[in-house]
Formats: sequence, structure tokens, C-alpha cells
Amino acid sequence: MIVPLVFDETARLVNLLDQTLLPAQEQWLQISTPAAMAEAIRMLRVRGAPAIGIAAAYGVVLSARLPLPDFRAAVHAAASLLESARPTAVNLPSAMRRMRRAAAQADSTQALLYEALLSEARAIEGEDRAAGRRLAIHGLGLFRSGMTLLTHCHTGGVATSGYGTALAPLLVARDEGMHLRAYVDETRPLLQGSRITAWELAKAGVDATLITDSMAAHVMKEGRVDAVIVGADRIAANGDTANKIGTYGLALLAKAHGLPFYVSAPLSTVDWDTPSGDGIVIEERASSEVTHGFGRSTAPAGVQVYNPAFDVTPGHLIKAIITEAGVVYPPFVASLAAARPKPAHGESMESIEDKPVHEVRPILGAAAPD
Ligand code: MRU
Repeated sequence: MIVPLVFDETARLVNLLDQTLLPAQEQWLQISTPAAMAEAIRMLRVRGAPAIGIAAAYGVVLSARLPLPDFRAAVHAAASLLESARPTAVNLPSAMRRMRRAAAQADSTQALLYEALLSEARAIEGEDRAAGRRLAIHGLGLFRSGMTLLTHCHTGGVATSGYGTALAPLLVARDEGMHLRAYVDETRPLLQGSRITAWELAKAGVDATLITDSMAAHVMKEGRVDAVIVGADRIAANGDTANKIGTYGLALLAKAHGLPFYVSAPLSTVDWDTPSGDGIVIEERASSEVTHGFGRSTAPAGVQVYNPAFDVTPGHLIKAIITEAGVVYPPFVASLAAARPKPAHGESMESIEDKPVHEVRPILGAAAPD
């Protein structure tokens, strides 16, 4: 399991893997302020919806690491700064909501507040890890040994707390006696697919083949792909899903070729307050990401550029959403609502974290409707 960050309790700082340098360098940064964490999130040193929620949560912890006269104000300023670092992934505002709540409920000394914040950040991270294990096993229920899945962007360990979302089934398949292969989309413009997915699958010994984004249609037409599986940055209550730019195109291609298109995401990525994809804010990033991908100029100076980082795949193109609560099928308004965690639910997510994967059983039925 590869993780994006490790909190050092003695030094009270975050060791963070700089994902912008992968795969050439595995360099760990020491992050000791909320401002440095916000910069790391903005610059994609840490990226992927669950990972940025976790990183931001630890970023809030950092705001209380040194004695301050007005420590409560510092915590709130940190949460606001971190929340504004990127707009699309819902894990960021929801993690900040949890951290603000933890701060509000903490006792009045700074030491107690610090402990409460650290415990909440650890809970957010632990819940995501447990969700990743469940996602993996639910996802495997949809596939047979020998199948090939096409995936986009990077949705593995370092985009989460270690198990991944769309990559989770591929990463645990072998432990379950299954052989799954992957086609990996390069993912323009920042190449999360080739730089990070291909790197992580190689480390895990998964049989993976890299293609550029524009090859996907051809590869599907040649019959090389059995299904498409992607992650999500924000899923609206009706199943419309924001994910890395290019995902919507893949969903259309999958439909044209009669292939199932799956989204795999923890329920923390569902935005219950946004009824449809129309309400999702799409991040626009700097034109230099398109004109100067990795250094050299690849476009004429002054060219106009449009660089949306995400797109929204309508729910009707999605065969199923794989969640930690089970595989949910259309109509998503009802099935997602049924999967939504209920406060009265018996087992805590943390309590399943150390169980072997084969002991993690689905909550909802995994069979597809006719
Ligand atoms: O811009 P990025 O690299 O943060 O985009 C990440 C994605 O789009 C992932 O597919 C998404 O966060 C799902 S991840 C675990």
C-alpha cells in the first residue's frame, strides 16, 4: 500500500509525497504550516479527491501545532484557506466541515484542541482506508479473472489513504486469486495516468498498458477492453459524476462500444446537497499546463487556451457506482440515498480496517438488475 502522506506526531508535521515529481523522483516534503499544505494542494503535490480531504484535515491540525494567543481564530483561518485551494472535489469542503465541528466541540485549552483536531484528521484518514478496502472487494464482484479494465487519471493509493478508488480492485485482485489487466489513459494535460497510475500499478505487479487519451476509442473498437472504471471528485445526488477531464468522453465511447462504465468512489465523494451535475463547479487551471506541459513550449506564444480540469459524466451513462456500502445501480437518486451512511448503523468504519479483505462483506446486493 502506498500512501500520500504520513503525520509525524513527534515533530508535529506532515511528510508528504510530492506527486508532481513522480515517477522520476519519490521525494517527501516536510509540511509544517497550513499555508504550505494549501500550496501543496493547489500545485497538485497532493491530489485525488480523498487525498486532498485528508491532507487538508492535517493542514488544519498544523494550525494548532505551536502555542498561539488566538488559536481558535488560527484554526478557522486555516480551514478557510485550505478549503479554497481547489473547488471541485467535495472531500475538501466536507473534511473542513468536520474539522471545524471538531474544533467547536473541543475543550478550551490549545493542547486539547490540538488533540481533538488530530483525532478527527486520523478518523477521516482511517475511514477512507476502510472504505477503500470495501470498494475493492465490491468492485471485484463485478469482474472475472482475465478481464481488462480501462482507467483514467490516477485513483490509487496516493490519491487516497492507500487503497485507492477505481484502482482498488486492480490492486487487490491478486490477493483474491484474480488476474485483472489494465489499459491506462495517459491523462492530458498533467499525465496523472502515465506518471502515477502506471508507476503504482508497476509497483504492485499489475499487468498494465499505457495509451494516450486519444487511443481509447481505437483500443475499445479492437475489443481489448471489457469495462471502463474511473474515480470521482464529486458525485451529485442523482449520480452525475465530476472526474478528471476526459472521463465524459470515455463514458460516451463505452456506450458506443457496448462496454460497462463504472465509477468507483467512497460515499465521502457524494455531494448530497447538489441535486445534479449542473451544480458542480469545474476547476479551470493555468493555460501553461497545456502550453508548457513539463517544461518545453508546445504551443505558439499567446495562444488562447481553455483548461477545465474536470468534466461531468451524466448518471445515465454510468452502469453502476461502486461504494464501500456496495454496488449501486440506477436510478441513483434512490440507490445512493439508500447507501448513505446512517448514524444508527452498527459497525464503525475503523473497526473493519484491519480485517482481511475476504472478511469484508457487501452491505447491499452486488448483482446487476436486468
Ligand atoms: O486533478 P487531480 O489529479 O486531483 O484529479 C484527480 C481525479 O480526477 C481522480 O480521478 C479523482 O480524484 C478520483 S480519485 C481517487
